[in-house]
Amino acid sequence: MHQGRLNVPDNPVIPYIKGDGIGNDISEASLKVLDKAVEKAFGSKRKMEWKKVLAGSEAYEQTGSYLPEETVNAFKTYHVGIKGPLTTPVGGGFRSLNVALRQELDLYVCLRPVKWIKGIPSPVKHPEKVDMHIFRENTEDIYAGIEYMTGEPDNEKIMNFLRDEMGVTRIRFPETASIGIKPVSEEGSKRLIRSAIQYALDRDLPSVTLVHKGNIMKYTEGAFKQWGYELAEEEFEKQVVPWNEYEQAREKAGPETARKLLEGKVLLKDVITDAFLQETLLRPEEYSVIATMNLNGDYISDQLAAMIGGIGIAPGANINYQTGCAVFEATHGTAPGIAGKDIANPCSFILSGAMMLNHLGWEQAAGIVFQAVEDAISQKQVTQDLYSVMDDATLLSTSQFIDQVTEQMD
Ligand code: NAI
Repeated sequence: MHQGRLNVPDNPVIPYIKGDGIGNDISEASLKVLDKAVEKAFGSKRKMEWKKVLAGSEAYEQTGSYLPEETVNAFKTYHVGIKGPLTTPVGGGFRSLNVALRQELDLYVCLRPVKWIKGIPSPVKHPEKVDMHIFRENTEDIYAGIEYMTGEPDNEKIMNFLRDEMGVTRIRFPETASIGIKPVSEEGSKRLIRSAIQYALDRDLPSVTLVHKGNIMKYTEGAFKQWGYELAEEEFEKQVVPWNEYEQAREKAGPETARKLLEGKVLLKDVITDAFLQETLLRPEEYSVIATMNLNGDYISDQLAAMIGGIGIAPGANINYQTGCAVFEATHGTAPGIAGKDIANPCSFILSGAMMLNHLGWEQAAGIVFQAVEDAISQKQVTQDLYSVMDDATLLSTSQFIDQVTEQMD
């Protein structure tokens, strides 16, 4: 591997985590879809060597640990892997396994591409206008887990410090306030925004939008925006047009000249989070790559996923673009209510696999997977979740759907 560019052999070892709950129904069964696509694209020249690694309940039963060190090491060694959903074990102080894996591997980008697949029922009138790529910062923000419960001694220390040393008087109910800390760094923000801009440039996408609440949280979210524009000037001067430059050109020389300014370049703009959530419903076609912090990104990812038809479909990945290390994942949870019944929708896992093929540079195989899933859905051959909201559809079990998608490739 060189500067985040993977040097992929023809037979890469790919660690995979089956996952809990419906992970048992969807993950291993879906690997054959990916194998078939690779075979279709490259014949016998390329093939993935799947390596099962343990996490979640299966790992706990076999090793006494929910996330054995061997699993983390396998991802470190082989760089790229895929996972099904994992239950967060209930119990005081237990970290989510997903968060633990992201932190261990410093996977600072949570990437969620959101694009409608023809035929999927959507709550909006024009889901075909949604084509966005969300870069959610994965390691900082209020999600860092630095919180102090009211009544605990640590909380009292912080309260005393804020009042006595910092002169803070604006905590409305100090006697009963819990406190959370929101770290947002220049380094963390810039590496996230750098990856988003590079992604847009590599794929000829028109714009990157910084989504923030900098009007209220000036030194965290406001700084995120400021660092984004700074980075564009420092590192992408010839490839990125900042919004104010574009606007000035439009005012002085008209829209045609302004448009010319953008030829072969990426427009960098910013929007306040609440306005952005309205914009996703009113003018989704004006947004392409989105770069945002952890909490905003969480809300935005789920809203956009719902707009294109929901939970069983949207794929995702956690990526460190500096090392190339990446874990692709189904974005839904373990759905315990339907686990073991062979009725879950495997699309999120399958499409995450297609994203993984893209990341390996095997775009041809990725395209075959996307096409096969789209074909099955547009022919209304679907699992229970979609069947229940579609007219005249054919109901397939998870395994039948996977067979259908595999056969579509012939
Ligand atoms: P969930 O995503 O498992 O389920 C929410 C709803 O969506 C349920 O009605 C479920 O039946 C349905 N659903 C989810 N995936 C589906 C699929 N592929 N096909 C058809 N229907 C599907 O979310 P919930 O219930 O909040 O979480 C359950 C467990 O999953 C928890 O332990 C949670 O911590 C874990 N979880 C794990 C994630 C991960 O590993 N990335 C992400 C989210 C939750």
